[in-house]
Amino acid sequence: MSRELVVIQGPNDPGLSKSIAKDLNALHVNVYKKVFPDGEIYLRIPDPSAIKNKYVVFVNTLYPEQNASWIETLLLANAIANINVIKTIAVIPYLAYSRQDKIFLEGEPISIHALLKALKANNVDYLLTVDIHNPKILETWGAGSYNIPASDLLAKEALHYVNKPVVIAPDKGAINRAKEAAKAINTDYDYLVKKRDKITGEVTLEPKEIDISGRDVIIIDDIISTGSTIALAAEKCRYSGAKTIVVAATHLLLVGNAYEKIISKGVKMIIGANTVNKKFSVEKVMLTDISKRISEKIKSIIGF
Ligand code: R5P
Repeated sequence: MSRELVVIQGPNDPGLSKSIAKDLNALHVNVYKKVFPDGEIYLRIPDPSAIKNKYVVFVNTLYPEQNASWIETLLLANAIANINVIKTIAVIPYLAYSRQDKIFLEGEPISIHALLKALKANNVDYLLTVDIHNPKILETWGAGSYNIPASDLLAKEALHYVNKPVVIAPDKGAINRAKEAAKAINTDYDYLVKKRDKITGEVTLEPKEIDISGRDVIIIDDIISTGSTIALAAEKCRYSGAKTIVVAATHLLLVGNAYEKIISKGVKMIIGANTVNKKFSVEKVMLTDISKRISEKIKSIIGF
């Protein structure tokens, strides 16, 4: 049984494929990649016989280099489809382009639909991702797509830095994530909402229901890109009287000076998951390992 499952390490694996292969007692294999002088990507599975007639898992995340990584992912899916395998399971822990999940302005694409359709057309049977921006997106894929939650793990990790915290979402869109995190650590949750002072007309951003004055706070979100959303949320929580503030966001892209922007608001720690292929050599970022949860999901899908 141990050789019926193979785990392929994609070129942009955030360090998950080896742990998953170990958990599942599966063979772990690499792919060969090169970039042609004109920029096109070439991929090859060096030993196709290693995956023939097997269940195949491949791991490739989509940050950094989300455009090249999408192409790699499609090429890898196609390379696998050209070999006679039993089933293909794509593990894409960070699904780039998920935030363009609807037409906001007439004339726009639904980017994530375009990309998921292309992946499915390349014979991928199952798709596993982590804390997708909007789980409804996966309806495009239908049966065989799974969103692995992470907020509860991040919240448990955050408890190392805060005492009896309240979980705060930076906006209403992240309320379900806050609920999930709060449930995991048995506490209360809320989201920030714009409030207008009836007398002065001044607009502020404050928790909708809960008084957070004097309380420790975990601010939760799915993704930190430029850091503007979280920096503003931290500043407003501090203004509302929060004591210690910790940030828990699954996908830490932390573009440009995002880290400094957030830390300058007095945030004690930024907790993320190992879903993107980025190393952090800063003091106040810590990553929670999501690999076990992915392995468990794969086991349940293929019945190993
Ligand atoms: C928005 O809907 C997302 O959940 C994040 O809040 C947002 O993408 C974060 O972006 P940034 O870090 O650039 O503010």
